[in-house]
Amino acid sequence: MKGVSTTIGVFLALVDQSRANLDIITLNTKGDTWIQEASATLVLGDVPNPMAGDVALWSAIMMDKRDFLQGVTENALNSPYCPNLGSKWCNFAYTLVGSRNAKNGAPVSAAPGSRIKTHYKLNPDTDLWDQNLYVDDKLLSSISTSQGQHGVIFYISIECAAGTCSPAPAHAWEDISITLSKADPSFKHSGAWQYKAIGGEMSSADNGKTWNFTTLRIPDIPITG
Ligand SMILES: *[C@@H]1O[C@H](CO)[C@@H](O)[C@H](O)[C@H]1NC(C)=O
Repeated sequence: MKGVSTTIGVFLALVDQSRANLDIITLNTKGDTWIQEASATLVLGDVPNPMAGDVALWSAIMMDKRDFLQGVTENALNSPYCPNLGSKWCNFAYTLVGSRNAKNGAPVSAAPGSRIKTHYKLNPDTDLWDQNLYVDDKLLSSISTSQGQHGVIFYISIECAAGTCSPAPAHAWEDISITLSKADPSFKHSGAWQYKAIGGEMSSADNGKTWNFTTLRIPDIPITG
């Protein structure tokens, strides 16, 4: 699995969008406030039917120096990450480094119903971002990248990363949490998120430094490359 890491190149290119990308949540920091930690737990829904193309579900943080940290869950035909995926999802920590190179942690397959948590944190000791992906509370995939960078945009998205994709089946995100470098009450998003998602209401118990979300439910969404 380790051999997979840098040879695949950029398969989830947010910056150069040649494939369909549906951002359910896009949350920008303002001024000199930045994201120093975030976490989100994807509760896996059914796999796409039929299996086709490359349907990817992810949380992510865009950095101020262009790195893109992305806890990826995908279901792809002939996945180089998880061969013989069958009716499971493939999950791994992933960072697009400066928009050209990619680095990923160990890919792990998991069945519908599994809980995939990705935790991103700027480690104050190393100044690196530690990205840890847990499957049902077990740490199974991790990377550390992006030294000294600061988070500026948080995403929850669905992507057709290759070919023609079947609809992304309904799924939910639990325990989304974002910690800013300092309190900013204006970080709060009001109203609904995109693509008929339900929930994901933000609140802060410390005047805007730490933000927690209610469960975000995303319905079946057609997505084509
Ligand atoms: C916010 O979420 C974090 C991370 O899941 C959790 O540790 C914390 O207790 C939550 N805070 C509140 C006020 O619910």
